[in-house]
Amino acid sequence: MSVLTPVLAPVGCRAARVGVCAVLVGVGGAGCASSSTGGHGGHAGHEARADHQHGDGMPHRFDDAASWAKQFDAPERDAWQKPDEVVAALALPKDAVVADVGAGTGYFAVRLAAAVPAGRVIGLDVEADMVRHMDERARALGLTNMVGRLTPMDSAAVDDGTDLVLVVDTYHHISDRVPYFKALRQKLSARGRLAIIDFRVDSERGPPATHKIGPETVQAELLEAGWVLSTSHDFLPDQYFLVFQPG
Ligand SMILES: C[S@@+](CC[C@H](N)C(=O)[O-])C[C@H]1O[C@@H](n2cnc3c(N)ncnc32)[C@H](O)[C@@H]1O
Repeated sequence: MSVLTPVLAPVGCRAARVGVCAVLVGVGGAGCASSSTGGHGGHAGHEARADHQHGDGMPHRFDDAASWAKQFDAPERDAWQKPDEVVAALALPKDAVVADVGAGTGYFAVRLAAAVPAGRVIGLDVEADMVRHMDERARALGLTNMVGRLTPMDSAAVDDGTDLVLVVDTYHHISDRVPYFKALRQKLSARGRLAIIDFRVDSERGPPATHKIGPETVQAELLEAGWVLSTSHDFLPDQYFLVFQPG
């Protein structure tokens, strides 16, 4: 089986209950979405509990992995998300320890696990169902070096000595980012890096523009948290892709 194969077939769409399922399916886009463009999938989940928020306090839940897998693992996403190019650009040593923070259904985690056969990948998420889904997906694919892990909203439960932390379409969901990323910095190995991929403010994909965080803000916040930009990749059409190292 390919590492790209989602293990769980989507079983119904939670978003259908709020009338946006048609937006979620087929238009592509990972995560919270603009209902006007449908580009990031419809703003499904924002009707839900206030205990999971965008950085600005916008409530958002990702508690039904099978439903979100339709969107996060849609084959159409690959054309603009370019996951294999992203993983290649990270140039990971085969024994690297990688943490995918806000890993969702494991779209990147499974590819990272294939890239570090002598290392390991931890897919961290605040949603228990995402963690369960990732564990099932890793088991079904025989990826013994990948596990899911539940993490708190306000700190990343990464292992000491982690070599790379990847954060895709999740930065804008994290509150109090300076202390969050300052604490994360202490967990990294000497060769540790932090890669942030998120939607450009003017992209038609992704959350509404008011909920997007531009790359200048990311860079300024992370500088305050003790990180310096080492590389900026520009091959993604809708997202910035920044790699930081400890300052
Ligand atoms: C838009 S999805 C992105 C999923 C995945 N990175 C991808 O590209 O397919 C955001 C994910 O981040 C998770 N999340 C939100 N806030 C988080 C936080 N503070 N720490 C870790 N995960 C978080 C959500 O539960 C969701 O699964």
